[in-house]
Amino acid sequence: MSSLQLNFKSLKAGPFRCGSGPRRFPTKPGSVRCAAASPTRSYAITLLPGDGIGPEVISVAKNVLLLAGAIEGIEFNFHEMPVGGAALDLTGVPLPGETLSAAQQSDAVLLGAIGGYKWDNNEKHLKPETGLLQLREGLKVFANLRPATVLPQLVDASTLKKEVAEGVDLMVVRELTGGIYFGKPRGFSTNQNGEEIGLNTEVYSISEIDRIARVAFETARKRRGKLCSVDKANVLEASMLWRKRVMAIALEYPDVELTHMYVDNAAMQLVRNPKQFDTIVTNNIFGDILSDEASMITGSIGMLPSASLGEKGPGLFEPIHGSAPDIAGQDKANPLATVLSAAMLLKYGLGEADAAERIEAAVLHTLDRGFRTGDIYSDGNKLVGCKEMGEEVLKAVDLNVAATV
Ligand SMILES: NC(=O)c1ccc[n+]([C@@H]2O[C@H](COP(=O)([O-])OP(=O)(O)OC[C@H]3O[C@@H](n4cnc5c(N)ncnc54)[C@H](O)[C@@H]3O)[C@@H](O)[C@H]2O)c1
Repeated sequence: MSSLQLNFKSLKAGPFRCGSGPRRFPTKPGSVRCAAASPTRSYAITLLPGDGIGPEVISVAKNVLLLAGAIEGIEFNFHEMPVGGAALDLTGVPLPGETLSAAQQSDAVLLGAIGGYKWDNNEKHLKPETGLLQLREGLKVFANLRPATVLPQLVDASTLKKEVAEGVDLMVVRELTGGIYFGKPRGFSTNQNGEEIGLNTEVYSISEIDRIARVAFETARKRRGKLCSVDKANVLEASMLWRKRVMAIALEYPDVELTHMYVDNAAMQLVRNPKQFDTIVTNNIFGDILSDEASMITGSIGMLPSASLGEKGPGLFEPIHGSAPDIAGQDKANPLATVLSAAMLLKYGLGEADAAERIEAAVLHTLDRGFRTGDIYSDGNKLVGCKEMGEEVLKAVDLNVAATV
C-alpha cells in the first residue's frame, strides 16, 4: 500500500481528522518516490526555532519527530537555521538568504515562533514579523490550514459553555499571501487637508481566489462536506469578486455544500454556535482574526497547529501562537501545538500519515494521563513544564509501539 493510501485512511479517523485527505495539493515528488521505494525514508527538515518560547517548543517537537520517525522507519536530517529576532541579532536581517534557501531546498519546514519586546521598535523591514512574511512569500505558501478541535480532555478549558464547545471540529482555510497585508498602494501619506494618513489596499485577483477556493473545497470534501465562505461582499468589491469566484469554483464540487457568511456574522456565529461550521474559507485578514477566535473555543492557543501549503515545494508548519515573551525561558510553554504541527508536517507535508497518527495518539494519551502545562491546567490534573510535557509525549509515543507490536 502506498503512503498516500495510508494517508487517506488515517485522515478519515480520529479527533484530529483535519480533513485534507490524500494530498490533492501536489506532493513533493522526491518524498513520494522515496516513501514508496524503500521501507526507510529520509527527509530533510528545516527547523526554524525563532524567538521566545520557539526554541523550547521546537526542541520538544524535534525529539518527538525523531522517535516517531525511528519507529516508522523514517530518518530525518534536521537543518536548524535562524529566523526573526534571532536572525536579526546574528545577521542584521530577519530572514537571511541562507535560511530561505535551506527552507526552499528541504522537504518541509517546522517553525517555532518569532518576535519579542527587544525588536518591537525596529523599523518595519527590520522587524521579526517581516522575516515571517518573507518566508511565507519565499515558499509561495498561499493556503493556511488551521484546525480548531475541542478535545474531550480539554473541553473545560474553553471559555464557552460546555454544551456549546463540546464536539467542535472545524478547519479555517485562510488565504495567506494576498489581500490587504500585501496589496498596493500602501504606506503613509498626506490627504487634501494636509493630515497624515495610513493607507492599505485589499486586492484579490481571480487566480488567487480560485486556487484557495479549490484547496478549501478539497479540504471540505474530505471532512463533512460543508464549506462556508466568509467575506464582506455587502461592502467590499474585493469580497464581491471573492464570492463570485467561490460560486464559480463550487460548480466543480457539487458534492460540497457551500454557504456564504459576512465576516461580522461569522465572528458572532463562532461563539454562538461553532458546531455549525465544518470548513471555513476566507481571505487573509478575516482568516487571521477568525482563526484566532476559533482557537479560543478550544481553550488554549498552546494547543493549535497549522499548515501552510503552496502548489509545490515544501510546506511551512507552525503553531499558531507567537513567541510568548512573557513566559519565554521559564519552561512554562505548552509544546503540544508545535508537536501537533510536526504531526501535520508528516501528514500534509510528507504523506507519512502513520507517523502523524502515532504522534496525535501520543498527545491524546498524555492528556488522558492528566499532564497539563499552565495554560490548560485545571484542578485534579498534574501541572508540568514544557520539558516534562515533552518527556511524557515521548513515553506515550513509545507506549504506542508496545501497543502495536
Ligand atoms: N507566527 C508567529 O511567530 C507569531 C504569531 C503571533 C505573534 N507573534 C509575535 O509573538 C510576540 C508575542 O505576541 P502575543 O503576545 O500577541 O501572542 P503570543 O501568542 O505570543 O502570546 C499570547 C498569550 O498566550 C500565551 N501563550 C502563547 N503560546 C503559548 C504556549 N505555547 N504555551 C502557553 N502559553 C502560551 C502567552 O504567554 C501570552 O500570554 C510578538 O512579538 C508577536 O509579533 C508571532
